Amino acid sequence: MPELKDKLELKDIVLLGRTFDEYFRAFNLRDIDLKYEKILDAASGVSSFCAEAALREINVTGSDRIYALSASTIESKCAQDLELVMAQMPAVAHLYKWEYFKGVESLKEARQRAYKLFVGDFQRHGSRYIACEYPATDFSNNQFTITLISHFLFLYDDRLDYEFHRETIKECVRITSKEIRVFPIVNLKGEQSPYIEKILNDEAFVDCTINIQTVDYNFIKNGNKMLVIAVRNAPYICSCGTQDKKTNTVKLNTGFIQ
Ligand SMILES: C[S@@+](CC[C@H](N)C(=O)[O-])C[C@H]1O[C@@H](n2cnc3c(N)ncnc32)[C@H](O)[C@@H]1O
Repeated sequence: MPELKDKLELKDIVLLGRTFDEYFRAFNLRDIDLKYEKILDAASGVSSFCAEAALREINVTGSDRIYALSASTIESKCAQDLELVMAQMPAVAHLYKWEYFKGVESLKEARQRAYKLFVGDFQRHGSRYIACEYPATDFSNNQFTITLISHFLFLYDDRLDYEFHRETIKECVRITSKEIRVFPIVNLKGEQSPYIEKILNDEAFVDCTINIQTVDYNFIKNGNKMLVIAVRNAPYICSCGTQDKKTNTVKLNTGFIQ
């Protein structure tokens, strides 16, 4: 029996990526008609969300500091990180729910599939991937309608301090016109990050409506919740259309006004 640990021991933020299906569930994306949105994946890393979204004609831009590196450098770092995490899995397996992934092998296969899809797309369609170092970006105000942040904020609250979280979310509010969704809200120990409470009470976000929603994806135990930050006066998003708050009408995605 391996000695059990209470969290993954990582020197740095790892280069592991999730698939489109994982994002779809983790961010409750079934609520949104994605073809009508301009989506930013913040700290997208080697996730295949952007590549798989493009195949579905969904407009997604990836953004991560690693995009300043070559595809081959990213690929070899990713392969190393995957081995590092897989080697620790027996000692930390009790921290995860083995339903979406039936076991360590299926987890490894999904992570490999994600980074291989990413690397191919990064080589062929590099313009979808923007190198940037959060909390600062060169994106313009309201450049995106929705920003998704997966496995970056809150998860790594042992190495990214509150100031970093606050400034990164402020930047995302600046560049996003409707909503920012952050998943998960637990840290590497599987506990809700104390920064969640601080964000909910931070006066920097008084112009936003913030709430926590349960989602249809639960790999880290207790990790089935996301933070939703709606930019005040942003149109309300629903699956059938977009609400215009000034005229109180809903523009249906078919193009009709009701
Ligand atoms: C665990 S990965 C998550 C990747 C992807 N979002 C997913 O869920 O599959 C975390 C990512 O954060 C990126 N990252 C860490 N610090 C960053 C920063 N200051 N600016 C931009 N990206 C950063 C890393 O390069 C890495 O790709």
